[in-house]
Amino acid sequence: MSRVLSGIQASGQLTLGNYIGAIQNFVKLQESHECFFMVVDMHAITVPQEPEALREQTESVAALFIAAGIDPAKSSVFVQSHVPAHAEMGWLFTTLAYMGELERMTQYKDKSAGKDSIGAGLFVYPTLMAADILLYNADLVPVGDDQKQHLELTRDLANRFNARFGDYFNIPEGYTPKVGARIMSLDDASKKMSKSNPNPASYIALLDPPDVIRKKISRATTDSGREVKFNPAEKPEVSNLMSIYSHCAGLTLQEIEDRYEGQGYGAFKKELAEHVVATLEPLQARYAEIRSSGELHDILRQGAEQVSVVANRTVRDVKERMGFVMPR
Ligand code: TYM
Repeated sequence: MSRVLSGIQASGQLTLGNYIGAIQNFVKLQESHECFFMVVDMHAITVPQEPEALREQTESVAALFIAAGIDPAKSSVFVQSHVPAHAEMGWLFTTLAYMGELERMTQYKDKSAGKDSIGAGLFVYPTLMAADILLYNADLVPVGDDQKQHLELTRDLANRFNARFGDYFNIPEGYTPKVGARIMSLDDASKKMSKSNPNPASYIALLDPPDVIRKKISRATTDSGREVKFNPAEKPEVSNLMSIYSHCAGLTLQEIEDRYEGQGYGAFKKELAEHVVATLEPLQARYAEIRSSGELHDILRQGAEQVSVVANRTVRDVKERMGFVMPR
């Protein structure tokens, strides 16, 4: 059975972008693949985090995984820092990467733009991500569009390792949704919807209460026309809302266009809000149950135990191939 690995950072609120771009695919893939899903806390500290906030966000993302339908009986759910092999493998891959290729990463360029002092962790971020994926020799990596460049670098590093030390790694493939691999901001369709945007009206958080969701969608920017048509180049805002609609209502873009023909944006936005609320309400109810039940830490401990077996074996093999003397 082929293997899936993916992760989400423990930094701030998860958004509908994370859900549509990544989590929905996690839930789907666990039916047919061996799946490893992690809460990424060591990448989160590449920008400053308050200790208490990091703890809360780590638990919150783990609980959202389960609430969204990731089943710990089918998938291993774990926290990145609970498996020390990630840090060790991250270092090994840092030594294989070139400054030039890390400098070309758009996420690095975006996050460091205009800053006086740039954390070194932000720079080597992608080598830790490569370690995350290659530790499990993953075949498929479900991610949104913004992670494709990091995945490409992971593939390059895997090939580089194989060329220098003999064939060992699979070359992993990305897995993105056909519609919704890049959900955009509600206030500006030229930017991706992001949990780090200081304006909360720009994103729908998975834990936003229904009335907040309705308000954010009714105020979402739309162009001055009135046609509900999917055309990302000419109608980026409406097209973005249609992608969200398509995922939450389970309708194709064509079905949405047909449904709102001649009706304008008012009815479309109102019904979109109800579909988003209907998608998130059950998730929020399950989230509250999981947070209060105390089962989360057992799930995470078991997950880390399961994946450590694979991760530790990979680190040992990699070190052996690179010429480290193994303890005897
Ligand atoms: P992160 O935490 O920023 O985002 C988690 C996942 O959500 C997707 N995503 C989106 N998809 C569509 N539209 C959006 N607006 C949107 N915003 C976020 C992201 O593409 C991602 O799939 N570096 C990764 C975390 C990571 C990882 C890994 C992922 C660390 N190690 C190993 C896969 C495999 C990140 O920062 O994602």
